[in-house]
Amino acid sequence: MQNQGIPREELEGKPVIGICNTWSELTPCNAHFRELAESIKHGIIQAGGYPVEFPVMSLGETLIKPTAMLYRNLASMDVEESIRANPVDGVVLMCGCDKTTPSLVMGACSVDLPTIVISGGPMLAGTYKGKRIGTSDVWRMAEGIKIGNISQEEMNEAEGAMCRSRGHCAVMGTASTMACMVESLGLSLSGNASIPAADSRRKVMAHRTGQRIVDMVREDLRLSAILKKEAFENAIKINAAIGGSTNFVIHMLAIAGRIGVNLTLDDFDRCSRGIPLLTNIQPSGEHFLEDMYYAGGLPAVIKEMQSLIYTDALTVTGKSVSENIAHANCYNRDVIASLDKPFKTETGLAVLRGNLCEGGCVIKPSAASKSLMKHRGKAIVFTDIEDYKKRVDDPALDVSPDHILVLQNCGPKGYPGMPEVGNMQLPKKILESGVNDMVRISDGRMSGTGFGTVVLHASPEAAAGGNFALVQTGDFISLDVEARSLILEVSDEELAKRRAGWAAPKPITERGYVSLYCKHVMQSHEGADMDFLVGKSSSEVTRDSH
Ligand code: FES
Repeated sequence: MQNQGIPREELEGKPVIGICNTWSELTPCNAHFRELAESIKHGIIQAGGYPVEFPVMSLGETLIKPTAMLYRNLASMDVEESIRANPVDGVVLMCGCDKTTPSLVMGACSVDLPTIVISGGPMLAGTYKGKRIGTSDVWRMAEGIKIGNISQEEMNEAEGAMCRSRGHCAVMGTASTMACMVESLGLSLSGNASIPAADSRRKVMAHRTGQRIVDMVREDLRLSAILKKEAFENAIKINAAIGGSTNFVIHMLAIAGRIGVNLTLDDFDRCSRGIPLLTNIQPSGEHFLEDMYYAGGLPAVIKEMQSLIYTDALTVTGKSVSENIAHANCYNRDVIASLDKPFKTETGLAVLRGNLCEGGCVIKPSAASKSLMKHRGKAIVFTDIEDYKKRVDDPALDVSPDHILVLQNCGPKGYPGMPEVGNMQLPKKILESGVNDMVRISDGRMSGTGFGTVVLHASPEAAAGGNFALVQTGDFISLDVEARSLILEVSDEELAKRRAGWAAPKPITERGYVSLYCKHVMQSHEGADMDFLVGKSSSEVTRDSH
């Protein structure tokens, strides 16, 4: 360390704090992280610690192919081994774009040092032709291009307008959901989730996060002391109230597996049931994350929820949830509604069961069409994304708004990596008729910015030989969200017959990480972590070659 010009006495006797940085120009949402890290360092030094910044694999949603999710577990391994192998006493996790939050938290959980999260913050809302826009509008515009309502040039211009500042997607997409998740789990300072990246108070939050981690080391406040089952239940309830991304489910299951908390899909349904949508944020509503911040931020939402959650749960502040939100207030009821006058009565998340998804699947009622919450229709099955692309706009496709679009082989093993293709675009002729929603079912995921009556994460996935592999065009499917059921109306005898003719798809590669991933990835209802990564390795390294 002396070759960096650091005198010995500068380090000795001080808590050494690792700053785990996901900065990358290939992750535009995290491109401001070097500057943000400086604020964290100032806070650490001010509190008497010594900061050491180090890079880990950074996953950007927009550029990584085939999907950033394929690499979430790889990034978590990088984080775990980097923290474990280096002599750090505590860690600040710098999280932003979707996967950079769960991968860092998963890796840190497997080491279990004192750890705190700082999020990068959302972009400012965009304005285009007098209308406020964000990345959820990409979906509408893509449909508009398909039916000739807008041009590609207009969409490019709008894209520049919606991505006009530093930060991650400004709607309640997966990145914002993850920022809310860490705050509601108690892993970040209160108020972290929604401060815009461009707001100087984001830097103040980073500075205070740096200050706090030094004391957490002195108090030996580790992740395992905070991440109890109660913390997970709190986060699930708060996620339902904010209409968070369905990706929340998969990442929470994986985090719970690392820290050793028994969490199942049933916990999500039990905890979300009856919780109305409080926040009027896109894609379930009309506002943006910055509006949530101005309205009081997540602390105001949590305060509204206090009768429903464990307010005595411990957080990184060393205080309880109720102490953290003692001074929270709501300043705009149009953005953060009250529990007795919610924005929508539909909850943000429901878990469905039935013979089409033996392990379960999820839907986001708050972003779906009320009229389709109970629906029976004939399936049109696409065997993979290429099949879908080839046939969906074929004028000869026999499709009506009552049909159910089914997309197979987009699960963890099947794609591989479980891409965000579940909110597949409707057939052109359906869009041209003015219909903009149909029931869609897949074993893939949906972007948190997406919306529609979209059933996701059907598990076990088609490639793992679940009944989802056996559904055929023409089969009737009935969806009943209120009853939490998804039924394939095909007899067990017929399913057994079809199963006898089914063969697992061949692996796409026998080398490298992707091969390892395909062999070991678990199903979505288990968090899609790799089986050998479940649990902790701890921070102890007993052998020393020096
Ligand atoms: Fe990074 Fe949306 S692309 S958060």
